Formats: sequence, C-alpha cells, structure tokens
Amino acid sequence: MLDQMFGATLEKHPADTDMNAAMEQSATKFKEQGKKPYIIPGGGSNEIGALGYVNCAIELLQQVNDMGLKVDHVVHGTGSAGTQAGLVLGLRATNSQIPVLGIGVRAPKEKQEENVFNLAAKTAVFMGLEGTVQRDDVVANSDYVGEGYGIPAASTIEAIDMFARLEGILLDPVYSGKGAAGSSTW
Ligand SMILES: Cc1ncc(COP(=O)(O)O)c(C=O)c1O
Repeated sequence: MLDQMFGATLEKHPADTDMNAAMEQSATKFKEQGKKPYIIPGGGSNEIGALGYVNCAIELLQQVNDMGLKVDHVVHGTGSAGTQAGLVLGLRATNSQIPVLGIGVRAPKEKQEENVFNLAAKTAVFMGLEGTVQRDDVVANSDYVGEGYGIPAASTIEAIDMFARLEGILLDPVYSGKGAAGSSTW
C-alpha cells in the first residue's frame, strides 16, 4: 500500500521466484538504460543494512550501562541474517562479552549460522574491522521454526500469550514470537 502511495513502480513475480536473480535482471535492464540501480536484498541484509544493528548494539550497551543492568544473553529471531550479523559485530567490536543467540525462523541451524557469519565478516571488512567476529560467536537454534517461515508453531503462540499476560509485551508471530519461544535455550 505504501509503495503505491509513494508512487513506486512495482513489478510482480511468482512466489517461487529467485528474488536476488530477478533483482539482478531488473538492475541490468536499468543499467542498460544508463541508470544506476541499487539493489536492496531481502530484509535489507547486506553490509549497509547490518550497520543499523551495529548501531543497535552500541545503543543497547549505552542503555545497559546507564541503567546499571547486567545482561547475560541477547536472544532474537533471525531470518535474512542482518540483525544477528550487526548485533554480533557491534558487541564484539566494542569488546562486550554479551553472547547472542539467534532463533531461526526459516533456515536450518548450520545454514543460518553460515549466512550470519558471512554477512558479519563482510560488514566487518566494510567497517575496516576485519577479523572482529569469529565463527563461534555466531550461534543459532532452528528448533522453533515449526512448519516454516511465517507459520506460527504451538510454541510461538504459547510464547506470545505468555509475554502478553506476564509482561504486557506484544510479540509478532513471524519473528519475535519464535525468538521468545526459543529464548530459554541459551
Ligand atoms: C522483530 C524482528 N526480529 C527479527 C527479525 C529478523 O531479522 P533478519 O531478517 O535481519 O534476520 C525481523 C525481520 O524482519 C523482525 O521483524
């Protein structure tokens, strides 16, 4: 709806399209017309997008320090990888020892960890911080995916209800509900 309100030109593709290949194809078409396309990958998860979560890690540490809190672990939903890549890089770059656990919403553990690590490494190079993130800084648990992306599992619903009733916090069924369902596994 917002795309239409802002007057963007939309192209629709079938649901099983290889999104990145389709975007490359469109970009080539625009380049041939003398334009300068910029491709934003799914989830904004490239090294520029991940910078947002490097900043988030710094903001988190500032708030934690201001409030005198001790954080044992950061747990969140992980999908296209930019959130976890940025958080892990931001925490390691600031010498924080706080571990991060990503609860997978789509891919199996090994694949998810590989995606996150590769993006964290690329983002580190982009920032001039090569080598800041080690492979074992990246930990994911994909046991809470259920039937698949966007489909809430029983554990997702249970976590959403629990957070609402005990904490007054509203979670979503695609990411934070699954993250919360897996949050006791670190
Ligand atoms: C609330 C929430 N948590 C986690 C994620 C996962 O982020 P990423 O796709 O960068 O892994 C998203 C993505 O949209 C989100 O909305």
